Amino acid sequence: MLLSGRIPEHVAIIMDGNGRWAEMRGLPRIEGHKRGAERTREVIEAAMEVGVGTLTLYAFSLENWQRPDDEVSMLMKLLEFYLRKEFDELIGRGVIFKSIGETWRLPATIRGLLKEAGEKSSGNKGMQLVLALSYGGRNEIIRAVRKAIALGADPESISEQYFSSLLDTAGIPSPDLIVRSSGEKRISNFLLWQAAYSELYFTDALWPDFTREEFFLALHDYQMRERRFGTVHARVER
Ligand code: IPE
Ligand code: IPE
Ligand code: MG
Repeated sequence: MLLSGRIPEHVAIIMDGNGRWAEMRGLPRIEGHKRGAERTREVIEAAMEVGVGTLTLYAFSLENWQRPDDEVSMLMKLLEFYLRKEFDELIGRGVIFKSIGETWRLPATIRGLLKEAGEKSSGNKGMQLVLALSYGGRNEIIRAVRKAIALGADPESISEQYFSSLLDTAGIPSPDLIVRSSGEKRISNFLLWQAAYSELYFTDALWPDFTREEFFLALHDYQMRERRFGTVHARVER
């Protein structure tokens, strides 16, 4: 599929539907997560190919910690496996790794891998890959409020710009496009502050079926949108 026209600078994806994909086939949920991880790799490639500047992937929410222990531990193992398998190659190709969320709650091995990936890729110039892990939007906002108070910020001086600089996403532009797979039409505590003017795209495709073609369909849909940011002009770019 040929994509001309503007490519969103930042695409953020709620990768949902792995469990249902597996259950529909009578397979254990983890099989859906494994298949989903393959699609994640495919979508990272597609995003790099078309020149997306930042790709944020919602891989594990704070609420997901409440899932059964065996699902959580298998998800963590899978995450570790894929980080080990992929990150060197992606870094070699210019990707800059970042993570957002309460990552201190993750197993030490994963924390170590994220730290290493972040350090090794900090001088890179390619696509920024942001992993939302143990992430919750409300929690991120509360942690930012705590930081402001701890820094002794003057209430009157707290601007949107200052507050943004206290979030995990400091320095990362707001998402232009938020994609959610699996047919659910909700945000599920993802990037609450940052999503203020994001375009939203929902597809019924379950994440293990979300191929590069599905990704390009989402970009096409975005290209048809008129973004107004509250103004009356026909096309306003920010
Ligand atoms: C998304 O798939 C992956 C994670 C939340 C970790 P789900 O596991 O939520 O799949 P469904 O929604 O149950 O189908
Ligand atoms: C959102 O999916 C979180 C991730 C994709 C990581 P969930 O499956 O956890 O969301 P709900 O429970 O359907 O809202
Ligand atoms: Mg789900």
